[in-house]
Amino acid sequence: MLYVETHGIRIPALGFGTFRLDGRSAERMVAYALEIGYRHIDTAQMYGNEAEVGAAIASSGVPREEIWLTTKIWPDSFRHGDLQRAAGQSVHRLRTEPDLLLLHWPNPDVPLRETMRALNEAKRQGLTRHIGISNCPSALIRESVALSEEPLLVDQVEYQPYLSQRAVLEELRRNGMALTAYSPVAQGKVFSDRTLTRIGERHGKNPGQVALRWLIQQDGVSAIPRSSRDAHAKANLDIFDFALSAAEMAEIFALARPDGRLVNPAGFAPNWDR
Ligand SMILES: NC(=O)c1ccc[n+]([C@@H]2O[C@H](COP(=O)([O-])OP(=O)(O)OC[C@H]3O[C@@H](n4cnc5c(N)ncnc54)[C@H](OP(=O)(O)O)[C@@H]3O)[C@@H](O)[C@H]2O)c1
Repeated sequence: MLYVETHGIRIPALGFGTFRLDGRSAERMVAYALEIGYRHIDTAQMYGNEAEVGAAIASSGVPREEIWLTTKIWPDSFRHGDLQRAAGQSVHRLRTEPDLLLLHWPNPDVPLRETMRALNEAKRQGLTRHIGISNCPSALIRESVALSEEPLLVDQVEYQPYLSQRAVLEELRRNGMALTAYSPVAQGKVFSDRTLTRIGERHGKNPGQVALRWLIQQDGVSAIPRSSRDAHAKANLDIFDFALSAAEMAEIFALARPDGRLVNPAGFAPNWDR
């Protein structure tokens, strides 16, 4: 396993995502993921599976300190007081404090200063070990950093071969932060990609493994693919025995296109970097 280091903290570079895994399949898949070597699990209050994720961790036999656990607060709990209450409910459901608590999406209806103060307090109250943000373009990264006394470890954003995140990466690196890539296999789209298939054939890997390797080979980037199938979860972890050349990395960077973004919910998506 490789690690990403941010503010002196090490995060396993490959994690297991649980969006759209309902309770029972989340519990089964997280148990399986831990059994085969994943040590980084991503959930959120909105996924409705924190209790099952927590149960799988508790019964896994893997020492808690070996697992990196991330959860996220939904924007309807961003007011001071609401946020700490919601964080406490996550701890209760997960049966453990998360390693990382993220603000799931920006919420322009609540002053960021108030939300950041609440998030900082949640950390000081022991409701999470570390804090961070999600779905923030570079301007919001800058604002968040300026308003937080505690270090923000990561911005969790969509990042896959069809979407450039150059502006976000530059801003994160300037602030000593890391990027966690969600939808890293472009929700399955990379599996029919000809460039990724061709590169993969050279290494004996499938296109998804190439996309994941491309992500974690970048400085300060981790990835959290999701799967509901054992074989897929296992394949996604099998990316530590090969490396992409500089030319292959460049070829994958060139797949980015202006309409490559997959997750852009009307109503609460921020103004993304162009
Ligand atoms: N912060 C946020 O706002 C946010 C937003 C979206 C996602 N996330 C996080 O990021 C995680 C991953 O993103 P995602 O779930 O949107 O997309 P993803 O991981 O890019 O793609 C998941 C899809 O790819 C398929 N897949 C995965 N591995 C495969 C393999 N080896 N072979 C063939 N198909 C494969 C899965 O199907 P099978 O089940 O059949 O394998 C599933 O349909 C989420 O689960 C969640 O934890 C966060």
